[in-house]
Amino acid sequence: MNVRIYKDAKTIGTAAATLFTACVIEKPDCVLGLATGSTPIPTYEKMAELYRDGVVDYAGVTTYNLDEYVGLDHGHDQSYYYFMQENLFRHINVKEENVHVLSGIAPDPEQECSEYERAIEAAGGIDLQILGIGRNGHIAFNEPADSFAPATHVVELTESTIDANKRFFASADDVPRRALTTGIGTIMKARAIVLIATGADKAEAVRAMVKEPVSPRCPASILQFHPNATILLDEAAASLL
Ligand code: GLP
Repeated sequence: MNVRIYKDAKTIGTAAATLFTACVIEKPDCVLGLATGSTPIPTYEKMAELYRDGVVDYAGVTTYNLDEYVGLDHGHDQSYYYFMQENLFRHINVKEENVHVLSGIAPDPEQECSEYERAIEAAGGIDLQILGIGRNGHIAFNEPADSFAPATHVVELTESTIDANKRFFASADDVPRRALTTGIGTIMKARAIVLIATGADKAEAVRAMVKEPVSPRCPASILQFHPNATILLDEAAASLL
């Protein structure tokens, strides 16, 4: 793990956007793995700015998002598809047909998951994956568990995650209880990974990810075994290292 500490979230956004922009410049038909949550927003803002400045062209890029809530269609304002449109896709020239987000309303969620897993492989795999981290150490929606999930699957969300994400909904009761998520195995196949954590409420998860033995109780700890994982932290998130 390559751990880098920055002074604030905005600077991290610039650093991460630089890595993503470089990836697209080097490989214009690359496959990007994208994440939601508040953490990647400064990165997406900077990526959009670099696009507007003519630094980078997304016309040949393919994207796969990590996860989606079960029950929310892509038009729902809390769906992760909607989030991606608002925060990144409509600000860059990625083609609609090259954008992939799991469907939360697929009639057969298990089939949706297996088709998504196959589609990522058929696209040649993910070149660069951005990740946030949950307060309980989850990545995508891979919650603490007894084992690492190998592939895209349906998951029951933990109370910790529902509590953390209720700020985006009218009430905790409105937060979906289930999600579709790429697996730990899916994430680990990405050729390069950038995980961002900002704020003191991530400090304990960051400590467990970096300092503790690899364990599915802290899913992000698996990144210790990834050959090209960069961890970008602000000082608050790094305070327990
Ligand atoms: C959700 C997402 C994760 C994200 C996490 C942290 O649970 N599924 O991919 O990393 O939230 O969100 P935030 O960045 O808002 O703290």
